[in-house]
Amino acid sequence: MRIDDFALERFFARWEFSAPYVLCASDVEGWAMKDVLALADDETRAMWDGLALGYTEAAGHPLLRAEIASTYQGLTADDVLVFSGAEEAIFACMNVLAAPGDHVLAAFPAYQSLYQVAAATGAEVELLPMMHQLGWRFDRELLRKSLRPQTRAVAVNFPHNPTGALPTPDEFREIARTVEESGAWLFSDEVYRGLERDEADRLPAAAEISAHGISLGVMSKSFAMAGLRIGWIACRDRDLLARLAAYKDYLTICASGPAEVLALIALRARGPVLERSRAIVRGNMARLDAFFAEWAGTLEWVPPRAGSTAFPRIVPPVDIDAFAGELRERKGVLILPGTLFGYPGTHFRLGFGRLNMPEALGRFEEFLVERFGRP
Ligand SMILES: Cc1ncc(COP(=O)(O)O)c(C=O)c1O
Repeated sequence: MRIDDFALERFFARWEFSAPYVLCASDVEGWAMKDVLALADDETRAMWDGLALGYTEAAGHPLLRAEIASTYQGLTADDVLVFSGAEEAIFACMNVLAAPGDHVLAAFPAYQSLYQVAAATGAEVELLPMMHQLGWRFDRELLRKSLRPQTRAVAVNFPHNPTGALPTPDEFREIARTVEESGAWLFSDEVYRGLERDEADRLPAAAEISAHGISLGVMSKSFAMAGLRIGWIACRDRDLLARLAAYKDYLTICASGPAEVLALIALRARGPVLERSRAIVRGNMARLDAFFAEWAGTLEWVPPRAGSTAFPRIVPPVDIDAFAGELRERKGVLILPGTLFGYPGTHFRLGFGRLNMPEALGRFEEFLVERFGRP
């Protein structure tokens, strides 16, 4: 299979660990190992101490699958398949679902693999644009019009990376119903679920509300443990899960044993784990609200309703790649130009899940003052 480079990941491979201030990360500040282990109960502590480093069960540790299932209403361990990160799950799903002659719809802008992998299978991929001018609203009418008899899958991602867009629960149910009625699968990337500004806005999971719903979850974002590389698919269609399990035999086969136990510990303690993430994101959002109010006229944004990223734009005409490069050189601050999402104009991604965000934002502001003058 030939596949285009993943522009965002190539950019991070180059800069993420050399730029002093990463102001565009999508994950939440990672937990320290000792703090995760301190959350263990007697059973998981014994699992950790006695762990042998052999292969693990291909579908995922049964206790981990049960714990993941308990985060969804009405699902059991048999509805869950563990992957090494969300990225592996996307790759497997798109390869199992799509083939030449098929049609796949994907919301855009998007985390690139959500449409690129399907395109690499030879399927025809059509993007469903979300527009800044329309508050990044997902256009349900356009979805309805774009569905065809050959449409195999519709890929959406709410809370949305990079814009922070989130439909209402009723709108999401309508999306799920529309896709199910068409006979296609709803591939629902829910990796930022749990990071809603207002918890009342949390969407139901696609796997809960639709027999054709495929919910993607991961430990990386709302659970703030990206280094575990533990993700999962939750879906009530056992035949699809079996095909995914067979495909995974050609990828990682099974997940890392230590990572599975740590994920189990964290999921059993998900109350405080998620509360820590929400507290970081809430604090940074308050700072960003004030920042964008002060810089109105120079910067424009649609405040994110959920997640840990936003996709603002610079109002004066600039070359966003050159602007971001200069900011990195002069202030050590990394922002992600919107061009890496294939998105035109002067948009850039900001991430607000990291503890040093206020300091990074302060340095960004110094740069803005030097470039545009005080607001
Ligand atoms: C929307 C979305 N889906 C999937 C992923 C992949 O997650 P992971 O790196 O944990 O595999 C990311 C990571 O940034 C993401 O933003």
